[in-house]
Amino acid sequence: MIVKPTEFARRRKKLMQHMGRNSIAILPSANEQVRSRDVNFPFRQDSDFFYLTGFDEPEAVLVLLPGRKQGQCILFNREKDPIAEIWHGHRLGQEAATETLGMDDAFPIGDIDDILPGLMEGRESIYFALGNNPEFDRRVVGWRNTIRDQVSRGASPPGEMIDLRHALHDMRLIKSRAEIKAMKVAAQVSAEAHVAAMQRCAPGLTELDIEAELLYRFARGDCRHPAYPAIVAAGANACILHYIENRGPLNDGDLLLIDAGAEYQGYAADISRTFPVNGRFTEPQKALYEWVLKAQLAAIKAVKPGNHWEQPHEAAVRVLTEGLVELGILKGEVEQLIESGAYRRFYMHKTGHWIGLDVHDVGDYRIHGEPRVLEPGMVLTIEPGYYIPAGSKGVAKKWWDIGIRIEDDILVTPDGHEVLTGGVPKQVDDIEAMMAAR
Ligand code: GLY
Ligand code: MN
Ligand code: MN
Repeated sequence: MIVKPTEFARRRKKLMQHMGRNSIAILPSANEQVRSRDVNFPFRQDSDFFYLTGFDEPEAVLVLLPGRKQGQCILFNREKDPIAEIWHGHRLGQEAATETLGMDDAFPIGDIDDILPGLMEGRESIYFALGNNPEFDRRVVGWRNTIRDQVSRGASPPGEMIDLRHALHDMRLIKSRAEIKAMKVAAQVSAEAHVAAMQRCAPGLTELDIEAELLYRFARGDCRHPAYPAIVAAGANACILHYIENRGPLNDGDLLLIDAGAEYQGYAADISRTFPVNGRFTEPQKALYEWVLKAQLAAIKAVKPGNHWEQPHEAAVRVLTEGLVELGILKGEVEQLIESGAYRRFYMHKTGHWIGLDVHDVGDYRIHGEPRVLEPGMVLTIEPGYYIPAGSKGVAKKWWDIGIRIEDDILVTPDGHEVLTGGVPKQVDDIEAMMAAR
């Protein structure tokens, strides 16, 4: 693992410093999710829980008790069970949890109802992500009520529930050196998969053939899972923003929009490229594509410390709107078309999002109502596009059924930015040259 146990320990310490001494934090792991009878989805750990533990098993709860002399980091997890382990695989157990995860103590998850109220007792506040999981919410309230029932005997229940997410998500927003390293692997593997998909693409294949190529390349790069379901959208399908059916044909003359990224050691990449199925852009495709690319480059340029979160979006919207006017798709003054939001008919999403352990990562986008100022260590996507479905009123037919998105993952650095996903061509000439050499 690129992120070491010492770093997980540092994160817990930092969070505890923020919480203050007389509090307790409670974080549950993710649960297994049923896909079909007797079959679960591949397990994915909860990102908050993983960020603080590096522990990848379900049925676990992390408890943080700042200042507690007998131990501040307590894990409840599954017991070793030789029979269950024969059927379902290795379990860490309690002994190894203290050693390998750096916990002060670990208890069987089955004992949590007996132990946790005692740990809560006397603490003034509970840090907890209320509302994430209604069943777990009830259990936390239940543990607190257990103490409340003993008030006449001198017990003191925590009086206050505080949302754990603010402090934790602020930490997650700024990536450490190790996290950036992991994100670079995810980015590199994803970029290579996009290149392979471009080289594989040809009329007569299907979107599913291309998805298969992507997943194969992810796996070859040690990324077992995609960070999100790949979008492989040919022709008109590219105008459906979250198209994941991926079953359509790749027709000669159409564009193919691929939005796909791998997950490496929990960290996501998120790349979109749009290119011609047959390797040569038509004139209308190229005209639109060049404007999206220009918008993307303008937005990327606006990613630097001191600029705020909305600036890349504003830069992209300006260029995209200029393009729509220039190509005769929108009529009017650019300024006014931006003001009125007229461009949204063809560009209806934001230009990016934070990315990290979650592809749409955590972290506030606004602070006290103002767009957040970019800082080194933040990673965000830049992903402008045009989407012009057939039947778009007042729009010449040559533009119909074209959907284009170009997306890269950008690290904010002390002097500007670094594009993490630059390994896939996006200039028209480079795409055409690469596809000609297939
Ligand atoms: N792939 C999801 C997104 O681009 O936001
Ligand atoms: Mn994205
Ligand atoms: Mn994407």
